[in-house]
Amino acid sequence: RHRVLSGMQPSADSLHLGNYLGALVNWVRVQDDFDAFYFIPDLHAITVPQDPEALAQRTRVAAAQYIAGGIDPERSVLFVQSQVPEHAQLAWVLTCMTGMGEAMRMTQFKDKAAKQGQDAAGVGLLAYPMLMAADILLYQPHGVPVGDDQRQHVELTRDLAQRFNHRYGETFVVPAGFYPETGARIYDLQAPTSKMSKSAASPNGLINILEEPKKTAKKIKSAVTDDGTEVRFDREAKPGVSNLLTILSAVTDTPIPALEERFAGQMYGHLKVAVTDAVVERLAPVRERALELLDDPAELDRILAAGAAKAREVATPVLEDVYAKVGFLPPL
Ligand code: TYM
Repeated sequence: RHRVLSGMQPSADSLHLGNYLGALVNWVRVQDDFDAFYFIPDLHAITVPQDPEALAQRTRVAAAQYIAGGIDPERSVLFVQSQVPEHAQLAWVLTCMTGMGEAMRMTQFKDKAAKQGQDAAGVGLLAYPMLMAADILLYQPHGVPVGDDQRQHVELTRDLAQRFNHRYGETFVVPAGFYPETGARIYDLQAPTSKMSKSAASPNGLINILEEPKKTAKKIKSAVTDDGTEVRFDREAKPGVSNLLTILSAVTDTPIPALEERFAGQMYGHLKVAVTDAVVERLAPVRERALELLDDPAELDRILAAGAAKAREVATPVLEDVYAKVGFLPPL
């Protein structure tokens, strides 16, 4: 069976609707057809400052949300990145094969470095994509299900895999990005031209999976809409309405044209009611299950330890092969 692999940073107290619809739903969908590896990239999280206690808690929260969202740790390998040291070990080799210019062209690096100021930004931000390439290449997956915003990192991963294979002989499978068709990008409810993100300007712009349903309803009701009255998908002229249509389409598995037909002659308010009901209905059981799992952190840690052991069975021989090819002495 072919493999897939993906991860989401534990950098907030909850995943948001963009992570859920842009990534997690897709992960769940593919876990039946592939050997799936899903992990929590806590090494990536520390590329920006993190409070240690909060990071540990957020890592468990992320794991609970993966499981509550439908990742089955019996069928998929679910683990925490820092518990599989091969990620950091392979990352160094790939970092040494990456050009400075190549790394500096990554738009996520440019955005994050600009936010922190060139001098304050850590070198980890620049090294981030090579660590991500290591995450992927260690497991030889054919597909990497991610949102559209990770495209550039997946492209770099492909380049590095090809470069390594060329220089040292066939080693890595060159992976493809799997990008979802709907819900590929969910935008901020208050600023629907920027993607929904934990660093949203207004807390009302993003929906957190673990927040009270009442709060979610309120945020959708106060979502920014556009001029005019027609419910129509038009990213340029109607970013707010288009975002609501995207969300409804993803949550209810209904194509956008069918939704446009259904809301013909209706007002923005009708659309908002439908989106609210659908999102709340969809998220409520996920939230409840996640909170239940978090009540028993020891059990959660046990699931993650079992996942890390399974991950290492795959990662260790790949790293050993790489180290030998690079010219390192055999492992002790
Ligand atoms: P991260 O943690 O920023 O995002 C996790 C996943 O959620 C998707 N996503 C969105 N999708 C739709 N709309 C949005 N507003 C939205 N915001 C986030 C992202 O596309 C992503 O799929 N670098 C990765 C984490 C990572 C990784 C990996 C992924 C580390 N190593 C190896 C795959 C394979 C990241 O920061 O994603």
